[in-house]
Amino acid sequence: MEEVRFNSPFVSGNERKYIDEVFASAHFSGNGPFTKRVQTWLEEFLNAPRVLLTHSCTAGLEMSAMLNEFGPGDEIIVPSFTFVTTASSMMRSGAKVVFCEVDPETMLIDMNDVESKITNRTKGIVPVHYAGFSPDMELISQFCDEHDITFIEDSAQGLGSTWKGRNLGTFAPLAAISFHETKNIHSGLGGCLVVNDEDLIEKAEIVWERGTNRSAFFKGLVDKYSWQEVGSSFYPSELQSAFLLAQLESMESNLRQRMELWNEYVRCFTPLENQGKLRIIRPPAECNHNAHMFAICLNSPEEADQTRLRLNENGIQAVIHYVPLHTSPMGVKMGYSPEDLPKTNLAAQCLLRMPLHLEMGINDIQRIASLF
Ligand SMILES: Cc1ncc(COP(=O)(O)O)c(C=O)c1O
Repeated sequence: MEEVRFNSPFVSGNERKYIDEVFASAHFSGNGPFTKRVQTWLEEFLNAPRVLLTHSCTAGLEMSAMLNEFGPGDEIIVPSFTFVTTASSMMRSGAKVVFCEVDPETMLIDMNDVESKITNRTKGIVPVHYAGFSPDMELISQFCDEHDITFIEDSAQGLGSTWKGRNLGTFAPLAAISFHETKNIHSGLGGCLVVNDEDLIEKAEIVWERGTNRSAFFKGLVDKYSWQEVGSSFYPSELQSAFLLAQLESMESNLRQRMELWNEYVRCFTPLENQGKLRIIRPPAECNHNAHMFAICLNSPEEADQTRLRLNENGIQAVIHYVPLHTSPMGVKMGYSPEDLPKTNLAAQCLLRMPLHLEMGINDIQRIASLF
């Protein structure tokens, strides 16, 4: 029986060549030539004023909370259906996280529920670009303006996707992207902070440089550098940046191949959808996505469990996704019970993700569909 793994980290082919160049330059630590090349690449690709590479998307989110000066007494609204650090990165600033529902159609933040959770302590919201899909970014921007709050895009999965033609990660004043090996493009571990609000660039560079104005020193703007703010050690080594540059340079063909697989899934699963066996999680019409994930929703948690086990027995690594954060042991410690967000709770239990990576072919997808 042939196994189809859930994920297989992408390798473009040029990673070793660029890592050899790091050896030749003997600049290993970080914020060196490869870091700068990758940052420029991303700034041009995204059309963003400043990108700072980080050692993870989590670090980018933590920087966002610091730059927004969130703290005790502030409330940040976060969808419960997301990765742990979307929430914990906000909580590390001392702010309180308030969980909201996702829309089961798309698994994206439910703005009606957000509205019901706004208080005079709300300082921000963190929409998540689940599966590289995007909620209505114009609505979110307008909503935040009206309530005089900010938003941070958790674009961990969003590189290469657009909303009405504009790149995800460029709508909020601050956004974070992941280059973890589970993402389309990766550096083992890695991420970046996208600074779209030019007024935040100088402070972001200081926080990123361990709280010093070393970046200004390197630009020749000051004659010595010193401690300015509370910051941290947020950037990756040159080895990771070199690896990442090779990946980014292959992004176009990577996304094209992923999209062929995603489209084949849709072609094979649409008849199953028409028979009422499942529902494909599709992006909103205004979103062009990066084929990061193919997820389906079964009719009940029991059907999702049975389907997953049947696929697994046949060598197909279909997997569940996030346990909603409000139902986790930490969520319970925060005072939540599963019934607080019933739509998210049910949708998460009905959801399954199918394998999607460049080591598989369309014949694998046809075999997977035949097992339904
Ligand atoms: C939605 C979301 N946010 C944040 C993260 C954290 O990313 P990283 O592992 O790069 O810190 C992930 C990682 O999978 C994610 O899916």
